[in-house]
Amino acid sequence: MDYSIESVTLDKLQSECLLVGIYENQQLSPSANALDGLCDGLIGKLIARGDIKGKNAETLLINNLPIEHIQRVVLVGFGEHGKLTRKQFRKALAAATKVLKDSKVKNASAALLDIELAQSDAEWLARQIVEVINDGVYQYTSTKQCDDKVQLQTLTLVTNDANQALAETGLAQGIAIAQGMALTKQLADLPGNICTPTYLAEQALVLAGQHDKLNAEILEESDMERLGMGAFLSVSRGSRQPAKLICLEYQGGDEHAKPIVLVGKGLTFDAGGISLKPGAGMDEMKYDMCGGASVLGILRAASMLNLKLNIVGLIPSSENLPDGAANKPGDILTSMAGKTIEVLNTDAEGRLILCDTLTYAKKYDPDVVIDMATLTGACIVALGRVPSGLFGNDDKLCNDLLSASETACDLIWRMPIWEEYQEQLKSNFADLANIGGPDGGSITAAVFLSKFAEKYRWAHIDIAGTAWRTGAGKGATGRPVALLSQYLINRAAA
Ligand code: BES
Ligand code: MN
Ligand code: ZN
Repeated sequence: MDYSIESVTLDKLQSECLLVGIYENQQLSPSANALDGLCDGLIGKLIARGDIKGKNAETLLINNLPIEHIQRVVLVGFGEHGKLTRKQFRKALAAATKVLKDSKVKNASAALLDIELAQSDAEWLARQIVEVINDGVYQYTSTKQCDDKVQLQTLTLVTNDANQALAETGLAQGIAIAQGMALTKQLADLPGNICTPTYLAEQALVLAGQHDKLNAEILEESDMERLGMGAFLSVSRGSRQPAKLICLEYQGGDEHAKPIVLVGKGLTFDAGGISLKPGAGMDEMKYDMCGGASVLGILRAASMLNLKLNIVGLIPSSENLPDGAANKPGDILTSMAGKTIEVLNTDAEGRLILCDTLTYAKKYDPDVVIDMATLTGACIVALGRVPSGLFGNDDKLCNDLLSASETACDLIWRMPIWEEYQEQLKSNFADLANIGGPDGGSITAAVFLSKFAEKYRWAHIDIAGTAWRTGAGKGATGRPVALLSQYLINRAAA
């Protein structure tokens, strides 16, 4: 998709299909009103006739207009005037995207920067329009013949002169975030037999090759051996695919500015190991690398935006399979930090590869470390699939992330990591057990990680419930790329 901005009034606009907004009770947005004037009151008549009421996410495609230069219009309902929420705006946009797809439009324009939405300027609107539309036109084609290819190729955001600068900033951010999310979704949707740790590492090198300020280095198992990453290596020992620790460095800030370190779980397939998972739905464990794919997506967005920050991306990547050499319940590992870990369940492998990576992160003298991981099914039990779980040892960092999540409409909800939970991780034979029993599973997983993140400000985002959709529309969501990109944009502006 190509996106552009045009500062133009509707009488001068050339468009194959134009999106304009209406509200309930026959209220038109300024653009819809202007169009109504150009079309002898056609829009007002359609509304009066009851073809569309303007309820949120209601749409009406008008295929014939009495004007030549605008061929089609999609009226998009935004509900009661003055009461629109950000979520509703996105929902309406997604509905409009579906109309564009179904009607096979190739080039669309959107006159939607005049929609009234509390605390949201043309910059926010432009960014979200690009994100939602790009998300809606995403198609997985890597291993599947596609006989219903999406036709939409270009989107022009119609603005006025007053909003042009804001719209341009929002457009650039929207494109970068959308491209980052698209990369994350493409990698995540690939099957485990294609997207192996080696493949993920190659893609990191490709990404680094595309951006001047981004460099990638891959640590091999021999390097991890030398570093003493006994926890990480114990997981990959059960797999024929060699583990990789993908290290990316984006240098956009002052030479000496401390980096923001992003860590992403890159388990390219999680069968559970000897503590084998049940068969039903096990295919979805190809998504256990969504944290790692998100780190790549975020770095793509940051690079495209040329953010004046230093960012490090660390992606521990491995498979977790049953094998004669695999971890066994009761095995004791020595982590890079020196802490010993009793493996009570080999399916709690994410924390094993992450804990050594969190220890490794110290070498960058980080400003903050933020990890993202499809870490626990318990997080889905606790929060469902609406917000990701947020955990952290620093209130300012957590609040900054919460505020970015509101802006990005990529929700997170903070959970406690109080010391009382440490009881559950006690082991008779090691410094820590790798599971904390059935209670508060997403919390004890985070508490486990916190023991390896004591030397810096740290946050952990459990994306088990949000990184992909299950069921008929199965597929990666690209979360939390928008959240972290917004956090980085905010940090670069501060
Ligand atoms: N990758 C899974 C977590 C997961 C489960 C993500 C379901 C998305 C959907 C993780 O490695 C895992 O298996 N966790 C176990 C931990 C348990 C053994 C303490 C889990 O959640 O069941
Ligand atoms: Mn597991
Ligand atoms: Zn896992």
